[in-house]
Amino acid sequence: MASVNREDNREISLSTPSVARRHLVGYAHRHAKDFLVVVGLVMVYVISQVIQPWLVKVVIDQDLIVKHPQFRSVLELGIAYLVITVIGLFANLTQNRKLQWIGQRIVRDIRNDLFTHIESLSMRFFDTHETGRLITNVSSDTNQVSQFFTSFLLSVIQDGMSIILVMGAMLLLNWKIALLSFLVIPLIVLISMLFRKKLRDNYRYTRSQFSRLIAYTAENLGGMRLTQIFHQEKKQFDQHTRLNHRYTNANVNEYRSSVRFNRTFNALGNLAVAMMMWLGGEAVLHRRIEVGVLYAFITYVQQFFNPINSLTQNWNTLQTSMISAERIGGVLLTQPEITDPMTPDSISRDPAGRELTVAGEVSFDHVTFGYRDTPVLKDITFTVPPRSFVGFVGETGAGKSTLMGLLARFYDIQQGAITVDGHDIRSFRQRDLHRMMAVVQQEVNLFSGTVADNIRLFRPHVSDEAVRQAAVTAGADEFIRAMPDGYDSWIRAKGANLSLGQRQLLAFARALALNPKILILDEATASLDSATEMILQESLTRIAAGRTTLVIAHRLSTIRHADMIYVMDHGRIVERGNHGVLMRLNGYYAELVNKSAPRGAASNLDVLAGVSPAARTARPR
Ligand SMILES: Nc1ncnc2c1ncn2[C@@H]1O[C@H](COP(=O)(O)OP(=O)(O)O)[C@@H](O)[C@H]1O
Ligand SMILES: [Mg+2]
Repeated sequence: MASVNREDNREISLSTPSVARRHLVGYAHRHAKDFLVVVGLVMVYVISQVIQPWLVKVVIDQDLIVKHPQFRSVLELGIAYLVITVIGLFANLTQNRKLQWIGQRIVRDIRNDLFTHIESLSMRFFDTHETGRLITNVSSDTNQVSQFFTSFLLSVIQDGMSIILVMGAMLLLNWKIALLSFLVIPLIVLISMLFRKKLRDNYRYTRSQFSRLIAYTAENLGGMRLTQIFHQEKKQFDQHTRLNHRYTNANVNEYRSSVRFNRTFNALGNLAVAMMMWLGGEAVLHRRIEVGVLYAFITYVQQFFNPINSLTQNWNTLQTSMISAERIGGVLLTQPEITDPMTPDSISRDPAGRELTVAGEVSFDHVTFGYRDTPVLKDITFTVPPRSFVGFVGETGAGKSTLMGLLARFYDIQQGAITVDGHDIRSFRQRDLHRMMAVVQQEVNLFSGTVADNIRLFRPHVSDEAVRQAAVTAGADEFIRAMPDGYDSWIRAKGANLSLGQRQLLAFARALALNPKILILDEATASLDSATEMILQESLTRIAAGRTTLVIAHRLSTIRHADMIYVMDHGRIVERGNHGVLMRLNGYYAELVNKSAPRGAASNLDVLAGVSPAARTARPR
């Protein structure tokens, strides 16, 4: 089915960028009042910062460097200085807290909207590779977007205001010297921008070297046995050393350039102060300005540097946030290709209103379907009683995945009807469909996030207890608890730190999280070695209990004990019956069974293919 969907991604209609962005600005709108408060607080803070050197200047020029220094007024101004400092500090702290709060609210709003939206999308949304990646990014993207509000906007307001006020104060004190010292600004901006770019490039390079090293190490641990069999250790070791070297060098380089940047920036600051001393000192000597003014100038020049630096730094934040905003907007604007009926069939729910009380009878009634003109499924009719376990077999291209896809309503059929408990599946709401059935495929889409997140899959109503329960039933609980942080352990993108078997168990747990009445497994065990498959086989018996389970089996052993096996060929069901019946029939099924390699031979091959060590330790007991 994966191949089915990769070709055909009509459901993902990525909108034009600006639309996505406008969508996100809407989130900030809801907090407009809070933002205004923040702007006010920032203003108080920045003003307090600019007033301080001015006060000192007043003290120096009016009270100290005069014939009769007045201690009393020095004391008064000292107290004023203290009060202003405290007010500034208070404003700064409050503003920070407030902004973090707004950021969290925005993240929460975006996530909620995403969840609700994703629920309304068709089952196929969860299945397509492209969208899988989109969802993958959602959790990190929402954080990134909130950074835009908390970090970028803050910087623009605060740093922008600082620069303007400092410049204003300088002009007010002495416009000639002020204009002269402004000459240093372009230089600061230029150096800051150049270094930022270099730092970012270095950072990326180091990251990429690191992932290569990790990937290489993981690959080689996985294939250790194979390496040893073919005496490749030396070669592998050399390669590892090379990669390791490159990573180390990249790291050193990154560190060096960041030190260089900081030193250059400091040096530039000192240079500016020196220039001020020279220019200003001469002016003082010629009595063109007062000593206090010189002091204020020196302080203001130094106050230039931080905001400019911070602004250039936040320019990067802006760019990454925008990319994230694009992606989130893309998901939010994805139009469901299959829409809910105007008057959905109301399904009875249990008193808590959570669980759907469907029995799980699945029925196909003369279903014919084609992706294009030629039909892929022809006149399919069968009924699966509730809570039974049925298998589908047939050669590649027979139409098995298509059939399962239709049941999950990835596509709508052209002729016939598909029903659950006698209701046409087109009469259900998508979100109800999500709850009554789950699909597990060979390819598991794991995303970077915690184990629990991965099982929950953006369905906020799945409680922690439900997550744990699903993992227990799937047989994943044991290895999850053995992980460093249990259910809060971090899974890397695509589940790189998990074995194939563990990933599959997580996929089972994910499917079980909403306790579906109908479970669809499409070659879920095809890519596994036989040792891992044994574990999954045990798991399968458990997860199938009490549900209608439809299994497409790559290995015929998986469905040997099925209540019913449907044998498919060229879009038709050509034989049906349990294993015993079909073997006695001695027809197409018997031929398929005889064609598949004897089990003993298969497991020897599996050893050569390198059973992942992690998969072996994940075995129960
Ligand atoms: N998205 C698609 N667009 C067009 N043809 C498809 C698509 N997906 C599958 N098919 C075709 O439908 C037929 C059945 O495929 P499929 O259901 O994947 O078979 P199976 O799962 O039994 O291997 C094949 O001929 C395949 O090429
Ligand atoms: Mg298939």
